Formats: sequence, C-alpha cells, structure tokens
Amino acid sequence: MFLFETERLGLRLLEPSDLEDIMTFWGDEEVMGFCGGPGTRERELRAVGYYVELQQRRGLSVYGVFEKEYKHMIGACGFNPGETEEEAELIYHFAKAYWGKGYATEAAKACISYARGVQSIERIAASTDPRNVVSGKVLEKLGFQYVGMKWHEDLQQEEPTYVMRLR
Ligand SMILES: CC(C)(COP(=O)(O)OP(=O)(O)OC[C@H]1O[C@@H](n2cnc3c(N)ncnc32)[C@H](O)[C@@H]1OP(=O)(O)O)[C@@H](O)C(=O)NCCC(=O)NCCS
Repeated sequence: MFLFETERLGLRLLEPSDLEDIMTFWGDEEVMGFCGGPGTRERELRAVGYYVELQQRRGLSVYGVFEKEYKHMIGACGFNPGETEEEAELIYHFAKAYWGKGYATEAAKACISYARGVQSIERIAASTDPRNVVSGKVLEKLGFQYVGMKWHEDLQQEEPTYVMRLR
C-alpha cells in the first residue's frame, strides 16, 4: 500500500477518497496560516489529481503521510517542482493534532531518501515564512543549508531559503 515507510509512518500517493482527511490540514486555517492560507475542497481535489500526474511525469511528488499503527492520514509531505528540472521543492503540512511528535522530520527524511533514487533530481530547495520558527528548525535538523532571503511572487514576501544538494 505504501510507496515507502519509516519506523512510525507510511507514505503513499494521494487519492480522491482521501479528501476528508486532506481537509484536516490543507483546509485548516491554522495549519496553512504561513503557507498561502487554507484551500477549498474543490482546490484540494484538483491538487490530488495534480500530484498523481506529477508522480507519473517526474517520479517525485507530494505524498499522504499515515501513522502506520492507526492507519490514518495525518499530513502531506514531498516535493513540488523546483525552479529547474534538476530541483525539487520540499513541503510538509500536518494536521494540528500531530504536531510536536517529530513526524515532519521523520517524513521529510524519508522523502529525501526517496528523492535520491530519482536520477534527474540534483538538489532540494525549501523556504519558510520568516515567522515560522518550527519549520526552519525542521529544515536545519534535516541538514539543509540556509542560503539567504528570496522574494516569493505568489506570497508577495521575502522568505528564508534553504538548499540540500543530493549529488
Ligand atoms: C511545521 C510542521 C510541519 C512541524 O511538524 P512537527 O511534526 O511538529 O515537527 P517536528 O516535531 O519534526 O519538529 C519540530 C521541531 O521544532 C521544535 N519546536 C516546536 N515548537 C517550537 C517553538 N514554538 N519554537 C521553537 N521550536 C519549536 C520542536 O521541539 C522540534 O524540535 P526538536 O526535535 O529539536 O525538539 C507543523 O508544525 C505544521 O504542519 N505546520 C503548519 C504547516 C507548515 O508550516 N509547513 C511548513 C512550511 S509551508
């Protein structure tokens, strides 16, 4: 069922039937407060289709994250396309009930290992809202290097930006 697993988590492609669970994080105001705001059911259903297609096209995507023990979806983690074909952009969003358990770090580590198997990807980029202290801490724990502030047109703000070279 899972594409890859960690000690506590399983990750797989998103499916339209996941929508209720997906809305607990992508539809939540607090979870998405630093990440462009919550999405509607329609938008997130389109996102599911997009991420399935992205996996087929690039071999790398954003995945649903499950607690293996209870078999329920707790968040999403994985990669959007980067600025070039060789780059992928790491993202992670978890339902609030599951914050503070080390899940983001554990899921992102597994996603990075998975990305190492995708030959075309040479580096991973990530950025966070300047107020998002926890997200910056996760990136540092993962071994990302801070490369400076970068303007994000979609969010209309400068954000701390991080990079990890895979090869
Ligand atoms: C950011 C997010 C993914 C972190 O998930 P998480 O599973 O709680 O993260 P982890 O438990 O792996 O790591 C969090 C770290 O921050 C630390 N931390 C938690 N609250 C903190 C705070 N207020 N100030 C400083 N550090 C804090 C934790 O102690 C932990 O570090 P440690 O392992 O050294 O103790 C989660 O909070 C979330 O989904 N936020 C909303 C979406 C988001 O901001 N996504 C990222 C950018 S768009």
